[in-house]
Amino acid sequence: MSAKPENLKPHPQARKEILDIAPYVQGKSSLPGKEEIIKLSSNESSFGPSPAAIDAYQSCASTLHRYPDGSQFALRQAIAEVYQLDENKIICGNGSDEILDLIYRSYLSSGDEIILSTNHFVMCALYAKIQGAKLVLAEEDSFKTRVDDLLSKVTDRTRMVTLANPNNPTGTYLSKSEIREIQAGLPSHVLLVLDGAYAEYVTHEDYDSGTSLVDDFENVVVTRTFSKIYGLSALRIGWAYCPDNIINILQRIRSPFNANQPSMAAAIAAVKDQAYIEKIREHTARWLLRIEEDLKSLGLDVIPSASNFYLLNFENCTGKSAQDAASHLESRGIIPRPVGGGAEVLRITVGLDSENEAVLTALSEYMN
Ligand SMILES: Cc1ncc(COP(=O)(O)O)c(C=O)c1O
Repeated sequence: MSAKPENLKPHPQARKEILDIAPYVQGKSSLPGKEEIIKLSSNESSFGPSPAAIDAYQSCASTLHRYPDGSQFALRQAIAEVYQLDENKIICGNGSDEILDLIYRSYLSSGDEIILSTNHFVMCALYAKIQGAKLVLAEEDSFKTRVDDLLSKVTDRTRMVTLANPNNPTGTYLSKSEIREIQAGLPSHVLLVLDGAYAEYVTHEDYDSGTSLVDDFENVVVTRTFSKIYGLSALRIGWAYCPDNIINILQRIRSPFNANQPSMAAAIAAVKDQAYIEKIREHTARWLLRIEEDLKSLGLDVIPSASNFYLLNFENCTGKSAQDAASHLESRGIIPRPVGGGAEVLRITVGLDSENEAVLTALSEYMN
């Protein structure tokens, strides 16, 4: 019997859950015909990392033939010291994306329900879908998650709640007491994941990233990153603070060398340079106030942000649209991030003085 032609043979089939997922589309990082661009589409730090982090990274060049420290000891210790945490409850990974993925792979199965805010960090939806979990969306009030609606959506199939706090793409945050209310309202077997990627930017006194809850409860995890205020997006270092029962699980499935040595070295130096971080925090908070004020006076609806970016809502802005505003900004060499789903919103990262001035000028041109 002659062999079947290749294209008639059955080929390996991916799981159905995977086929339903559209590949992630990264924000733009260049504009055709423009050499000088201002990239404000990915909430990176325009300041870059502390010079100490760059030195530490470069000093690893002579030991690239050695595997990283799989226990991540020095990095866990540095994080624990700076944030006053227990180093044994810290796990590091290839960006907080990887940590979220590890958590979802460990705790979500097909048919489970996960509650997210209506506007949520897209990777959470992706990781949940990979597991075959069902997304349940809590309503928002003025782009802020409604605690009452979230708690009303808990069913006996709910296994997890994930909240980015501050949230991406909205920039809004839930206070420490609101987070405690959510934890108190969840059954103890439901895992509450608090994604604090932007925690270092928050200057509001009623905010807490949730690490104290981790010490008190077995169903709360906090994830953090070196990609935002620490300016190390390219190096992919994230971490989580977890109760013992959860860290035991995540350590079982983490690959031994998921955080590489030059990246960990840079992260250690970065986290130790808190004077550098303080300057960026202060710069960002100051600019957010100015941006909010200036854009409001142009008639724009700016969602109050606790983070390093702001959301412009064009829903009620007659004759204007998020897409047109984005095109105008791009014509000036500025790359914002239109937030998907057909929503009339545009997300812009706070940058350096000159970058923020350029945005204000371009938006003023657009509105006038
Ligand atoms: C809310 C939120 N969580 C997590 C991440 C992922 O960060 P990392 O670079 O650590 O994977 C991002 C990145 O944009 C984010 O906005």
